[in-house]
Formats: sequence, C-alpha cells, structure tokens
Amino acid sequence: MLWREELERGAAGHDAPAEDRAAVEARAGVGAAGYGELPAEEAGRLFRWLKLGPDDVFADLGSGTGKLVLQAALETEVGGALGVELSRFRHEAALERWERVGRPAGVELRCEDFRRSDLSEVTVLFAGATVFPEELVTELGELAARWAREGRLARVLSTRELVAERLRERGRLKVETSWGVPTAVILYERVA
Ligand SMILES: C[S@@+](CC[C@H](N)C(=O)[O-])C[C@H]1O[C@@H](n2cnc3c(N)ncnc32)[C@H](O)[C@@H]1O
Repeated sequence: MLWREELERGAAGHDAPAEDRAAVEARAGVGAAGYGELPAEEAGRLFRWLKLGPDDVFADLGSGTGKLVLQAALETEVGGALGVELSRFRHEAALERWERVGRPAGVELRCEDFRRSDLSEVTVLFAGATVFPEELVTELGELAARWAREGRLARVLSTRELVAERLRERGRLKVETSWGVPTAVILYERVA
C-alpha cells in the first residue's frame, strides 16, 4: 500500500512550534496540545474491528496531522472521514498530507475546536484523549451524549473512559502507540 509510505512523510505533530501549542492550550486547557498517534498497522486493526461502511461518517476529534482520517478514507468503505484539529500547524500538515496522498474524496479537514464543530452527520467518532485535561474529557462525554441524542452518532472510541448518557461500553482493543506505551481503545455504542 503505497499511500502508507506517503502517510508517514511530511511534518510530524511533535514539530508544532511553542506558540502553536500555547494557542491550543489557551483554548482547550493545559496538556491539550500533547501529541501521539496510532501506528498505521494498529489503525488498520482498529478499522477492521469497526467494519466501517458506506453509511458511516468517521470523525477524529483532535486529528493531528490527519493520518487516521486519511487512512480511514483510503483503506475502508467509509462514506466520509472528518478531522477536527485545533492546532493550525498540525491542520496545515494534514492538508499537505491530503494533497500528497491524491486528495481522496469524502475527506474534510477542519481547523477548529471540536466542542464547537457541527458533528451532526458523524456516526463513529474517535478521540485520542490520553493527554486531554480532565475537564476536556468530561466535556467530550457530555457532548458525545448530545450528539448521540440529537445527531447520528452511534459509536464512540476513546483512549480515556467517558461518562456519557445513552452510550454503553461494548469492548476494548489494546493497541500499540507511537509513544511506546500500549493503550486500550474503548468502544461505546448508543443504546435506545
Ligand atoms: C493524540 S493527538 C492526535 C492524534 C491523531 N488523532 C492520530 O491518531 O493521528 C491529540 C490532538 O488533539 C488536539 N486537540 C486538543 N484539544 C482539541 C480541541 N478542543 N479541539 C480540536 N483539537 C484538539 C491536539 O492539538 C492534538 O493534535
């Protein structure tokens, strides 16, 4: 898969300059600008576990340099893939990466705070929330409950436990990470 090599090229999330990180943390709290990724092999395992289909819209909240979103678009049957990233530096790196892998259709990359983003069409969301501040994780749980109630959200994946009305834990997938510490990705599903 040639695009996997292309996915690895370009600016890294860790390269974000100090002022860019400070801008993220001024909005989202101390620790929010921390960075880490799922290696492509592990992301592939995650996507096979999820069996994304044409009716799904996948979103990565805090999408960094866009690798997960682009891999979803390139390697799965997903109907749409959305990345929402607050860091301008990482967002621009994601746009460059999208160009480099041939501008796959159905991809949208937004530079904004996921708490203000319109996610009403999203069916499956992922949050690599490991270093998110506690308040941001709490807000994520509250928002996920609202998106499940008012939008199409049916499945939520998070590397931190969430408390979210109408969402119940359905399983965990242990994955390797770019920072060398295996982590569990927790899957929540909407209940009636
Ligand atoms: C773990 S990293 C992202 C890795 C990416 N999901 C991947 O797997 O390739 C978390 C990202 O969340 C971003 N972030 C933190 N708070 C945010 C917010 N409120 N809205 C959007 N992005 C946010 C950070 O700037 C950082 O790039």
